[in-house]
Amino acid sequence: MRERRRFFVANWKMTRTPSAAAELARAMAALARPAGVDIAIAPSFPALDRVRAALLGSGIALAAQDVFHEREGAFTGEVSAAMLKDAGVSLVLVGHSERRLLRGERETDFARKMARLAEEGLAPLYCVGETQREREAGRTRDVLRTQLGALDGFAVPPPGLALAYEPVWAIGTGLAATPELAAEAHAHLRAELAARFGEPVGRATRILYGGSLSPASAPGLFAKEEVDGGLVGGASLSVSDTTAVLAAAAAPRA
Ligand code: PGA
Repeated sequence: MRERRRFFVANWKMTRTPSAAAELARAMAALARPAGVDIAIAPSFPALDRVRAALLGSGIALAAQDVFHEREGAFTGEVSAAMLKDAGVSLVLVGHSERRLLRGERETDFARKMARLAEEGLAPLYCVGETQREREAGRTRDVLRTQLGALDGFAVPPPGLALAYEPVWAIGTGLAATPELAAEAHAHLRAELAARFGEPVGRATRILYGGSLSPASAPGLFAKEEVDGGLVGGASLSVSDTTAVLAAAAAPRA
C-alpha cells in the first residue's frame, strides 16, 4: 500500500496585506522543503497573485480560503472557482468553522462549492470538527458524520479531496487536541469515507489535523499514523514555527 504523503497547508486567514503576504511567501519559498511533505499556502483573495509570483519555482502550491457556490453572474463580492483556477490556485478550503460559525454556511453550501471546484479540477480541503459543547455532549461522531453529508451528492469523491479535522475548541486557543483524540477522530472520518466511497478511497484520502498546531504540539500529532499533516493558522505566519512544524511533518511515522 502506498503511503499517503504528508501535507502542510497554511491558512493565513484575514491577516497580511498583499505586500506583507508576498514578503512572507518569499521567506517560505526560501525554506528547505522537506522530502515527502507537500505544502500549500492560502492567503487572502487580494494577495493571491502576489503570493503566486513569490512561490514560482518553489514547489509550494497556491490555495484559496473559500469559493462561491455559483458559477458566474450577479453575485457582488463573490469569487468563482473559474476565477481561482485562472489565478493559479489548485486547492481550496471549504467548510472552515469560521465560515460555519460567522457566516452561517451549511453542508448544502459546501456541497455546491465542492461541485463547482470539481468542475474546474480544483481540489477541496473540506474542514470538519465539533464544538466544545458538542464534544461534551458526546456528539462528536454524529457531528462529523453530519458534516460529511456535504459529500452525499458525490458518487465518487471530488477530485483531490482531502479532509481537515479541526475541533473548533482547538482553533486559535493554544489548546491542541491530544494525539490520541485526533487519531480517534481521523479513524472515524476514514471509516466514514470508506463506507461512502469504498476502502481504497478511505485508505488514500489525506486527513489533516488543524487547531493550535505548533512546534510544541506537532511532533506528537504527526507521530500518529492517522494524521496526514496539518492545516495551520497562527504558526503558519511565523517562518521559524513553520520550519519546526514542517520538520515534525517530515519525521517518520510511528
Ligand atoms: P490555528 O488555526 O492553527 O491558529 O489554531 C487553524 C485553522 O483555523 O485552520
